[in-house]
Amino acid sequence: MKKINIAVDGVSSSGKSTMAKDLAKIIGYIYIDSGAMYRAVTLYALRNGIINKDKTIDEDKLREHLPNIDIQFKLNPLTGRPDTYLNGENVEREIRGMEVSQLVSPVSAIGFLRKEMVEQQQKMSLDKGVVMDGRDIGTVVFPTAELKLFISASPEIRAKRRMDELRMKGDQETTYEEVLQNIKYRDDHDQNRKESPLRKADDAIVLDNSTVNIEQQLDWALDMYHKTINKTL
Ligand code: C5P
Repeated sequence: MKKINIAVDGVSSSGKSTMAKDLAKIIGYIYIDSGAMYRAVTLYALRNGIINKDKTIDEDKLREHLPNIDIQFKLNPLTGRPDTYLNGENVEREIRGMEVSQLVSPVSAIGFLRKEMVEQQQKMSLDKGVVMDGRDIGTVVFPTAELKLFISASPEIRAKRRMDELRMKGDQETTYEEVLQNIKYRDDHDQNRKESPLRKADDAIVLDNSTVNIEQQLDWALDMYHKTINKTL
């Protein structure tokens, strides 16, 4: 069976990762969460004094440390999904917390870091058969991907979904307001940065999933995949 690469882009907490993971599992593709890579670098930066007290980033220090940052994905047999490893340590839980979420947008706006991450992402996908989600996958990482999906939803709906997820993971402290503000802040930062801003590729297919549930959006993605495969046969 012919393999393609699938780019899934969209705003924060739009459910694109859930869709991309489930799609990859069903069609037997490798799933790569590019946001997890920027999150892992942010965690590394926090732990290694690369973030200054005023929350600015010491870019020279980050550049020096970059060769020491190794990010891998390994399948978690319990969840059936890949966990993120930073220098051999499973950091899946820590990279999803508010501390990393609040700093990941400025970290991911750094040009030399993006260049390195994009190179790694492209290497991981040379053999095709990859579903990758992020902000610049259809525009920069896989500009020639056979299938590009772009997912959006209103900030309020995304904040509610993220809250449900945090509560389920046992976080009782974070408030709806904090989550909503973080989502709006990241939207603004991701769309207006100089380096690879979040934007829909011209040939991406859009889904606003504000009123669509997880099963329906997965059916939609599967349908897009089958149509694309049939066209490329
Ligand atoms: O997808 P997720 O929300 O986990 O990504 C975290 C952050 O990483 C985003 O807010 C964005 O700033 C950055 N990111 C990026 N490019 C990607 C994926 C994520 O800049 N390809």
